[in-house]
Amino acid sequence: MSESGRAASRTAVLVCQGRAVADGKAAPGRFADPVAVRLLRIAERTSVDEVRGSTPPEGWQARTAYERVRACAEVVVPRTVAIDDALGARVTGQLVILGAGLDTRAWRLPGLAQTDVWEVDHPASQQDKRARLGEAVEAVRGPDEGDLPVGELPTIARSVRFTPVDFAVDDLGMALDAARHDPSAPTTWLWEGVVPYLTRDEVRATVAALAARTVPGSALVVNYQAPSVKAAAGMLLTRVLGGSVTSGEPWRSLWRPQQMAALLAEHGLRVVSDDTLLALAHSLGSPARRRASLQSGRVAVAERH
Ligand SMILES: C[S@@+](CC[C@H](N)C(=O)[O-])C[C@H]1O[C@@H](n2cnc3c(N)ncnc32)[C@H](O)[C@@H]1O
Repeated sequence: MSESGRAASRTAVLVCQGRAVADGKAAPGRFADPVAVRLLRIAERTSVDEVRGSTPPEGWQARTAYERVRACAEVVVPRTVAIDDALGARVTGQLVILGAGLDTRAWRLPGLAQTDVWEVDHPASQQDKRARLGEAVEAVRGPDEGDLPVGELPTIARSVRFTPVDFAVDDLGMALDAARHDPSAPTTWLWEGVVPYLTRDEVRATVAALAARTVPGSALVVNYQAPSVKAAAGMLLTRVLGGSVTSGEPWRSLWRPQQMAALLAEHGLRVVSDDTLLALAHSLGSPARRRASLQSGRVAVAERH
């Protein structure tokens, strides 16, 4: 639990587990995340190993965890590939990852070698990630690795600057100023798996704040959730039953593609592509048993010209 009274994100761990499951298994040649498993604690690796081995555990609770991780792996593969491709096509000197969670790109994408990365996240989640990075190094540090910086996995990106921000209360622009982000230079913005957890007003405020630091040559890659019967039912259930069904991370906003495009256009960002994860899964030939989730999850790319 952080000073703000909020716990580190559990959904960030789930997504990391999904990537660890898929590494070396799904979409060969297109998807790989060997760093994900290193950010997981021992207990969190159990479900990962079970899903990778197709050995579902006994018992209701363990089986639920297994199914959640398995479902997540299916969704994160097309999402990660689409985003990695979009970033690879739009490399700038600055990448700001909003709601970074246990994102591993700064540690695994060779294309970021000349890029400074800002990992923006809720303070509680960020504190947790930094502890995990330290533990990962402790776990792998061997006699020949004595010169690794203490508490850090070696990054591929030119630099990683941890920037704590609660989108609900903090000023994103001020936080990025303090972290030496240059608003006059092109920036690639990544916003993956975060929009549903913010209210519509928080999403609007975040877009306004990032757009104010977005010069021509910049781009935004945003993953969001469009309305669906399943999503609407889930949100209703949360309202009725409270936070217990969502581990304290309820979905708060869904956006139709036209609404997202209109919001971005208001701030001078023109959507150049916006695909469902289902279409992306089909193009990769990856499994699509979670049709509803894949159909409502989207990855859009917007550019400032
Ligand atoms: C599902 S995780 C996604 C993490 C990462 N982007 C990924 O896709 O692996 C959601 C992330 O949103 C962040 N988040 C949710 N609400 C937030 C808020 N109000 N301010 C800052 N970050 C927030 C959480 O801390 C968490 O890291």
